[in-house]
Parts: sequence; structure tokens; C-alpha cells
Amino acid sequence: MQTVPLTLLFSDGAVRRIHARQGTSVVAAANEAGLHLLTDCSNGQCGTCTATLVSGDLELGSYDRAILPDADRDAGSVLTCISRIEGPCAVELPYDLSEACAEESPPVNGTVASVTRVADETLRLEIHTGAALDFEPGQYVRMRPPGADQWRSYSMANAPGCDRLVFYVRLVDGGLFSSWLTDSAQAGSVLELSEPRGSFFLRREARPRLFVAGGTGLAPFLSMLAALAADERQHTLSTTLLLGARTGRHLFALPELAALRARWPGLAVLLAVEADPVENCRAGYATDLIRSLDLDPATRIYLCGPPPMVEAGRAAAQSAGLRRSEMLCERFN
Ligand SMILES: Cc1cc2nc3c(=O)[nH]c(=O)nc-3n(C[C@H](O)[C@H](O)[C@H](O)COP(=O)(O)OP(=O)(O)OC[C@H]3O[C@@H](n4cnc5c(N)ncnc54)[C@H](O)[C@@H]3O)c2cc1C
Ligand code: FES
Repeated sequence: MQTVPLTLLFSDGAVRRIHARQGTSVVAAANEAGLHLLTDCSNGQCGTCTATLVSGDLELGSYDRAILPDADRDAGSVLTCISRIEGPCAVELPYDLSEACAEESPPVNGTVASVTRVADETLRLEIHTGAALDFEPGQYVRMRPPGADQWRSYSMANAPGCDRLVFYVRLVDGGLFSSWLTDSAQAGSVLELSEPRGSFFLRREARPRLFVAGGTGLAPFLSMLAALAADERQHTLSTTLLLGARTGRHLFALPELAALRARWPGLAVLLAVEADPVENCRAGYATDLIRSLDLDPATRIYLCGPPPMVEAGRAAAQSAGLRRSEMLCERFN
């Protein structure tokens, strides 16, 4: 089969030129050259593999348009797992070369410490790993319940550095992991965990920050905020969390947020629900609150939640003067 040059540009400035078989996906071609690009679903449904096409053409296979809106595709964004190489091209990846070179470690066992219902449709899952797991706040692990042949991804909601991981899981009817959690998981259950993954992690930058979360999209921000709260030098930077949920009964982790604010009084937390508001909670969408903020154009915005929420947040932040290319997003339902 004919090969064509594929250039991979990493965020640390590293460049790799490889010969790719025409018709293979960018991920598969990189894999054949010994590079492991970040992926999760591998079929255009999650957005984990989003990158930017700098030159050349890629043939996109089928994907969820909520994950890659047409405006982003037109601006050069591609999903590398379903993008087939037809000719010479260059693709920019939002992470360092070292991430793509690292061989994935074998999975480790985790032991369920507790499973607790914390809100409508949401469970808190605590897992002990035996040894402290090193991760960047905002990253996720893949987990596989006993006897299952598929993995599911969940973001850590606690700060790194201890042998316990906290997750918040939204239950979906008939879902593999959801059903295991509600029907079988209990203290002492053992499941498999991948090593930490993902490029949606806290950037240590001297600039204001805005976190926008929908539902369990709050989980990675709890990890980021816990890490920031522990470092008083970070408290001088303006930091705001906007949290949205369907109703007041769907809000969770409010005691954790109150504890963070007690340690870090400058942290601003604004809540919004679509119906049945609770105290100190606005009616509507969290993303509606963006336009009420007096945003510094240098603000780094992080968005995590269902794809329509992420898109609404990006549009509102762009109207407020922030650059789309500077926005960090993680989408999951
Ligand atoms: C990077 C990343 C981080 C994430 N972090 C979190 C997090 O912190 N918290 C969180 O709650 N979620 C998170 N998610 C989402 C999570 O990975 C799962 O997608 C979600 O929990 C659903 O998993 P499940 O196994 O319960 O459902 P699934 O088995 O994936 O099912 C989802 C839906 O599809 C339906 N379905 C399944 N199989 C079929 C079929 N064959 N035919 C028809 N319908 C079918 C199910 O009935 C269900 O309604 C994250 C996702 C990603 C990509
Ligand atoms: S890995 Fe999920 S869209 Fe590519």
C-alpha cells in the first residue's frame, strides 16, 4: 500500500515525521510508528482525540457532531481516531511528545471503599489503590468492572498524592458501569484501573481562571480546585466556578465546595439549575452566567460537561472576548 508523509507536531515543540499508509487513521498510523496518541472511545463519540489539521487533507469518518461542531471542523479541528490519511498532512496535538511515547502501564486493581448516592442520578465512588497514584488534577482513569470486557472513563475528583480516588458517576439507564455500580458494587469489590490519562488538566499559569461545569462535569474541577486551594500562592489569581445542574436535587458535592471556599475565601462559586432551585442558586443554565461576569480577556476557561453545554459555554466566552483556541474542553454525557 502507498505511504504518505504525516507530520505530528506536539505542544512541547517536538515534531515527528512518519510514513503513514494511505487510508489509515491518524491514530493507527501513529501507532504503527510506535506513538500512542490519546484516545478513549476510538469511534468519534468522546472528543478525547481532538487535534488540529495544520496542512493537507484528512477524510473524516462518522462521528458525533455534538463532539466536533461544524464550526470547529471548518476551523481545522479533527478527531484523529476517525480521520483517514489521504495525502501528505500535518496535525498539531495539544500535549507533549512524552505522553505519546509512554507505553501504557498494565492495569492495576482498585478496591471499592464506598458507594454512596449523593444526588438524583449521581453516586460517589471511593476506591483504594494500595499505593498513591500520580496524576495531574483534571485527568481521568479507565475502569473495568469484574467480568466486563469494556472499559469506561471517569475523572478523579480529589487532589493527587494519596492512595484513594474519588469519583462522581452519573447513572444512565442500562449502562454497563452504571448497572454494575447500582446492582453489584460494594465495599471490598475489586475492579481494574488504567493509568491516569487525558490532556484536560490544570495549567499552572499566572492568569485568571474560569471553570464551567455541567452535572458530573464538576468532578475534574473538584480535583483542580483542591490542588489550587492547597497552594496559597494560587489564591491571588481570580478563580470562578460556574456549576449547572438540571434541578436542585441533581446538585452534589456542595459540602466539598463549601470546605474549599472556607480555605480559599476568594474562590467564587455560582450555581444555576434549570428547575427547582435551592438556596443561593440561580434559575437557568450555568453558561448563561458567563455574560454577567466581567471577564479579563486573559482568562483561561475550562469547560466540562454535556456537549451542548460545552458549546454554549464556548460561544458565550467568545462573545465575552476570550479566544476559542485558548479554551480547554472535556465533553461527556
Ligand atoms: C474523558 C472522560 C471522562 C469522563 N468522566 C466522567 C465522570 O467523571 N463522571 C461521569 O459520570 N461520567 C464520566 N464520563 C462518561 C463515562 O465514561 C460513561 O460514558 C458514562 O458513565 C456511561 O457509562 P455506562 O457504562 O454506565 O453506560 P454505557 O454502557 O456506556 O451506556 C450509555 C447509554 O447507551 C445505552 N446503550 C449501551 N449499549 C447499548 C446498545 N448496545 N444499544 C443501545 N443502547 C445502548 C445505555 O442504555 C445507556 O443509556 C467520562 C467520559 C470521558 C470520555
Ligand atoms: S477517541 Fe473518542 S472521538 Fe476519538
